[in-house]
This record gives sequence, C-alpha cells and structure tokens, in this order.
Amino acid sequence: MKHLIDPMDLTRQETDEIISLAEDIIAHPERYQGSMSHRKLATLFYEPSTRTRLSFTSAMMELGGNVLGFSDARSSSVSKGETVQDTVRVVGCFAEVIAMRHYIEGAQLYASEVSPVPIINAGDGSHSHPTQTLTDLLTIKRELGRIDNITIGFCGDLRFGRTVHSLIKALTRYDNVKVVLIAPDELRLPDYIKQDVCEKMGVEYKEVETMEEVMPELDVLYMTRVQKERFLDEDEFDRVKDSFVLDCRRMALAKPGMAVLHPLPRVNEILTEVDSDPRAAYFRQVENGKFVREALIVKLHEWKNDPSHSMPDHEQPVLDPTLHCSNQKCICNTEHAPYKFRKSDNGTYRCWYCDSKIR
Ligand code: NCD
Repeated sequence: MKHLIDPMDLTRQETDEIISLAEDIIAHPERYQGSMSHRKLATLFYEPSTRTRLSFTSAMMELGGNVLGFSDARSSSVSKGETVQDTVRVVGCFAEVIAMRHYIEGAQLYASEVSPVPIINAGDGSHSHPTQTLTDLLTIKRELGRIDNITIGFCGDLRFGRTVHSLIKALTRYDNVKVVLIAPDELRLPDYIKQDVCEKMGVEYKEVETMEEVMPELDVLYMTRVQKERFLDEDEFDRVKDSFVLDCRRMALAKPGMAVLHPLPRVNEILTEVDSDPRAAYFRQVENGKFVREALIVKLHEWKNDPSHSMPDHEQPVLDPTLHCSNQKCICNTEHAPYKFRKSDNGTYRCWYCDSKIR
C-alpha cells in the first residue's frame, strides 16, 4: 500500500503521473466527477488549517466522494488520550483514505505503520508537507512550463517552514535546479536538508542575506510566513518577524517571467500591492492544490492493491537503546513510538520519525 508521508515516498515517475493527472483534471473535469463516488476521505486535523483541509474536502467532493473527520482534535477521543495509531485503526474502518495534519513530527509516519488505509501527511510540525509540495510543483510547471532548469529562491522562515523542506527534497529529482536560501540567521534551513538532501543529491545551493542581491536571477521566488507557533521564545520571534517583505520595489528587480509562490497564509511578508502583478501566482497556487489533491486521491486509490506502487524500501532502522531523540515535538517523545534511527552517509544518526540529529 502507498502512503504519502514524505515527498520521497513517491518516485519521480509517480510524482509526474500525479502532476499530469492534475493537468488532465483541469482540462477535463467532467471525466473524473464520479470517480470516487461512494468512497470516503477522513480528514483528521490536530492543528489549525484553512486551505489544506478545505482543499482536500473540495477535491473529494469534486470526485463525487464524501468526507468525514474532525478539524479540532479536542472534540475527538484524542482528548481522552487515544494514540494516533489507535485513531487511524478506528478511522480506517470508516474511510478509504485518511488525510492527517498533526503538530507532532513523525505522527503520520507512526500512524501509517498500522493503518489499514493510505495515510496522506497534510503537515507534521515543522517537518514535512508533501501535498503542498505537489501543489508547488504543479504551480511551477503551469507558470513556467517546466520544473527542470530553474533557479528558485526560498525566503523567510526556512527553519520551521515544512513546505520549504519538502519542496527542496522533491526538487532534487529534477535537473539543474539551483536553490537560493534567503533568511536571517535564526531562520536558516536545518542542516539535515542542506547535508542529507542538497549536498547528497548534488543540488547547488547558496545562502544570502538580502533579497535584492538575488532577485534578478530567480525563476521562482517562494515566500513563507514566519511561523510564530513554532517558536519556543517570543523575543526571538519578535526579532525576526518582519525580516523579509516583498513589495513592488523589490519585484521591479525580478525577471519579467518570474513566479511568486507562497503556501499561504501570509501575514505581512507580501504586501497586497504585489497581488495585481501578473507574476503573483499564490492564489492560482491555491486552486492548483485542489486539482493535485484530486489527482493524489485517485492515484492512491488506484495503487492501493498494486505491489509495484508500494512504499520505497527504506533502509533498515537502527535500534540502539543508548540513543534517544531529543526533539520534544517528535512522536517518539509524545506517544512513546520506539526510538529508531537512520544512519547518514557521514556516520551521524537521525531520528527515524522527525529527522533530528542525534547527539
Ligand atoms: C503552510 C503550512 O501549514 O505549513 N500552509 C499551508 O499548508 N497552506 C504554511 C504556513 O502555515 O505558514
């Protein structure tokens, strides 16, 4: 069975199949209208969401299916102390596919270990957000006509922005992608993405401190919100919250064909004066999210009983009782998932569930 927990759970070919299907759904929506009739999607959202949850709901409705679930875990048995594994075992009796968002990192991976139906990760803490990645890839393709041969700048909260982490991972599969990281010191991209993703996969990246110096070279500018809810220290948040703001003056430095993406919600990092610029693609991106989620639901259903579309053969986890994950927001410290690790090429260990480096 295929789950989508991390963008790398899909091969490049599977990713391209989903994107092509989304394009076909855009061109011929009537062909897909009944394809999920009498089937149900459960949306289990343990963390606030507008776009992602409604986009899954709308996608399933477009396909003729039904949706059940919760958007506030306090109203479910979670408030009685039920684990995510038990919850998906139960919900798997009522729905054919589950989309789950959780503030705990690794929650969906842990849930997928026992789930009787495909699990879609709709965001886990500051770790991953693979369906936003599919949305972003489709948007880049539609705006630029290609995903290969691009220079993409990521701006803002690269430390906690799970959409950034997942998109960089997925882009390593494409040819000649150059990554520019634009962030203050406090919000720099985590080392595991730089080392285990960019360096390992040979993706060229550079870190810069101003937008101005790189604007003219970008094909895509990926803006992000500074994620207040992930900061443990309010003063640190106040110091960086207005770090990088996109306005018309900065847009004037960019290529005429550049596309501005943002997973939304925005706070103040893109001034509304930019919205009328034809290069502002972020509201088109929202709509693409619905189409790509339709395509994903159709494909996961199609692949469910096809052994040629199972989960990738991850390396064997290392089980060493002397190692512990110190990330307090990881599932192994909140629900006692077993401590499991993967060994990186450079000999360091990372948590199986949240990718934190183990000291
Ligand atoms: C993002 C998320 O939830 O990670 N939004 C989204 O899914 N559209 C980004 C954010 O919350 O800033």
